Amino acid sequence: MQIIKAEKSRLSEVDFNNLEFGANFTDHMFIADFKNGEWNNSRIVPYAPLVMSPGAKVLHYGQSVFEGMKAYKDSKNQAWLFRPEENQKRLNLSAERLDMPALPADIFNSGLEELLKLDSEWIPTQEGKALYIRPFIFASEETIVASSSTEYKFMILMSPVGQYFTQDVKLKIADKFSRAANGGVGFAKAAGNYASSFYPARLAKEEGFDQVIWTDDATHTLIEEAGVMNVFFRIGDKLITAPTSERILDGITRKSIIDVAKNMGIDVEVRTITVKEVVESGKDGSLKEAFGCGTAAIISPIYAIGYQQEIVEMSQKENRWSEKLKTELFNIQTKKGEDKFGWTKQVTVN
Ligand SMILES: Cc1ncc(COP(=O)(O)O)c(C=O)c1O
Repeated sequence: MQIIKAEKSRLSEVDFNNLEFGANFTDHMFIADFKNGEWNNSRIVPYAPLVMSPGAKVLHYGQSVFEGMKAYKDSKNQAWLFRPEENQKRLNLSAERLDMPALPADIFNSGLEELLKLDSEWIPTQEGKALYIRPFIFASEETIVASSSTEYKFMILMSPVGQYFTQDVKLKIADKFSRAANGGVGFAKAAGNYASSFYPARLAKEEGFDQVIWTDDATHTLIEEAGVMNVFFRIGDKLITAPTSERILDGITRKSIIDVAKNMGIDVEVRTITVKEVVESGKDGSLKEAFGCGTAAIISPIYAIGYQQEIVEMSQKENRWSEKLKTELFNIQTKKGEDKFGWTKQVTVN
């Protein structure tokens, strides 16, 4: 792999105490090209703008998929990734649905490792912070014919971050807009899924909500996801989340929480959850907690949910499962606690 190092690090210019999510990028980025049917030319270069044709297909048809993962440091300054093989597999699952070529695991892994070696000083050590990693593939062929590209770029960027939502959130249940449909691309991390969610999210914001809870497109009666998070509800003494489907992203945090919660003795149910059940349990007080989860969001407690003209609030204000689960997960990720599940992978950075 060719490596061109940045002449000067920008690390000292970043205020690690006030990190805006995704706004600061590390000194280097990884790039590989797909051309003539194969991936080649793996390289690391200083982080800089790309020179690209305005006719590149990604700009016209959004043929692009991405991943989101994090690197953490433990108290001995060692760097760790959390279930990176899950991101690698999901990137290719997304790529397949968007008719893009699979990326060999060794390019993903070696790119990630070399980049982390170069920019390991950028991994935050403060509680709750981490280095967010953004691998992505996009169509770079210069033609605006509406068909799959024959050329792509795979890149990795990295950005030191704090938590996505810094406070508990208030979410609105979607009763008109949809994020995904059967036969569509909801299960994939396709760029267009996010582009189409921004308008409903802005409308919800104008009504005083932080994000949208997505429901099924056909009936808007089933709860699916919350913004860019999977969503859990504690009703009575059960922790409930919807099963994944072709409309729902199979979140790595979601599946980790299911295992961690079960291990803590929590009764977890993976089953269909209706809007009606959430609203009614909110009214009778049995809706104790709700939270969104994801790599960026970690665990974001929801304090209120709006549906049409009604607003329901969570009844459990203290000793919340969301806090216990967040601590447990964070302790695994940062090696403070035992990694019973074997999810963490050390990265040799020195
Ligand atoms: C739509 C959507 N749902 C759920 C998640 C959570 O997935 P993960 O836990 O793998 O980050 C994400 C974030 O990646 C997302 O974009």
